[in-house]
Amino acid sequence: RLSALAADAIGKDGYRHYMDKELHEHPLVIGQTLQRMIDPATRRVVLPELPFDLATIPRITVTACGSAFYAGLIGRYWLEAEARIPVDADVASELRYREPPLSKGGLGLMISQSGETADTLAALRSLRAGGQHVMSILNVPESTMARESDIVLDTIAGPEICVASTKAFTAQLSVLACLAIAIGRARGVIGEAREMELVQALLDLPSRAVELFGLGDDIRAAAAIIAEARDVLYLGRGSHFPVALEGALKLKEISYIHAEAYAAGEMKHGPIALIDKSVPVVASAPSGPLFEKTASNLQEAQARGGRLLVFTDPAGAARMGKIAERLVVLPEVHGFTAPILHSIAVQMLAYEVALLKGTDVDQPRNLAKSVTVE
Ligand code: G6P
Repeated sequence: RLSALAADAIGKDGYRHYMDKELHEHPLVIGQTLQRMIDPATRRVVLPELPFDLATIPRITVTACGSAFYAGLIGRYWLEAEARIPVDADVASELRYREPPLSKGGLGLMISQSGETADTLAALRSLRAGGQHVMSILNVPESTMARESDIVLDTIAGPEICVASTKAFTAQLSVLACLAIAIGRARGVIGEAREMELVQALLDLPSRAVELFGLGDDIRAAAAIIAEARDVLYLGRGSHFPVALEGALKLKEISYIHAEAYAAGEMKHGPIALIDKSVPVVASAPSGPLFEKTASNLQEAQARGGRLLVFTDPAGAARMGKIAERLVVLPEVHGFTAPILHSIAVQMLAYEVALLKGTDVDQPRNLAKSVTVE
């Protein structure tokens, strides 16, 4: 854990908060992390040498806490879709008590910025005791989890000072995306053309992420609506459902506004009862196969007086523009990598709300950067 002294030495580089500085490091961190995992000559994903065979793993169990867990949930969509491997995902504090039957030779996949979170470490040990190979995605290479793992995939995010995770999250996603490609290839699910397509989509991300910083005015306009609210609902479908979870968590952590995330299709089974003009609805809804379904879920909310703040892309802008009160149009990217870009956008939104609320952005009350008790 970094001391206050070390944090001072790292400095804010003229940014108002570490969080603002770290948000602006997303493009760099994604680029650096991908550089570690993609061979520039062949443009193929390369993993370090593994002490087990990726092709024969029967099942993956992903576990983590907080934002790292939501990265794992996005990873599950990628691993299941691109590698066709069954994936279980559970928060680390619950995994052991669920007593899941583990397949022999399965893979326990741990995700942690610090590598010290007590719940995740305990889950790591119980997965190992259950005969799983242990792979960890970590930002601190000399951490306890690193020492206890069979293999570590590094996120090259640099020190993260703000308590709420930002750049470590997208670095985790970059690693998970590459891992899904590598496992898909090992299992014979992904061919060369698909791998090239997905790698290109990843390599395009840093420059698309830079473009997000030009959307400040639109994000601030949405933030002004949220800052007035007591409760906010976040919605998304598919790999954008965990983006909604991350957006809601970030808002709670740094602005102290109550937020909940739902899979957009589930809204009609309960949360829609909450909707009126005092509960803004934030949606992560890029164009793609789930777009029209999401749009009709949102329309239901709008018909009940809900104020919609929608993150979409140029292809989705016209349709969403008809129902949304505020639109944030993100750059066009491949559907595979869209959740990474949308995650940055919802983190930026939370930051702008916290500025309006005047909270202690970098050191929110009751939270710690690294939680070493269970
Ligand atoms: C704490 C932080 C969260 C973080 C979680 C997991 O609760 O407040 O921002 O996501 O721990 O931390 P880790 O270091 O394991 O990623």
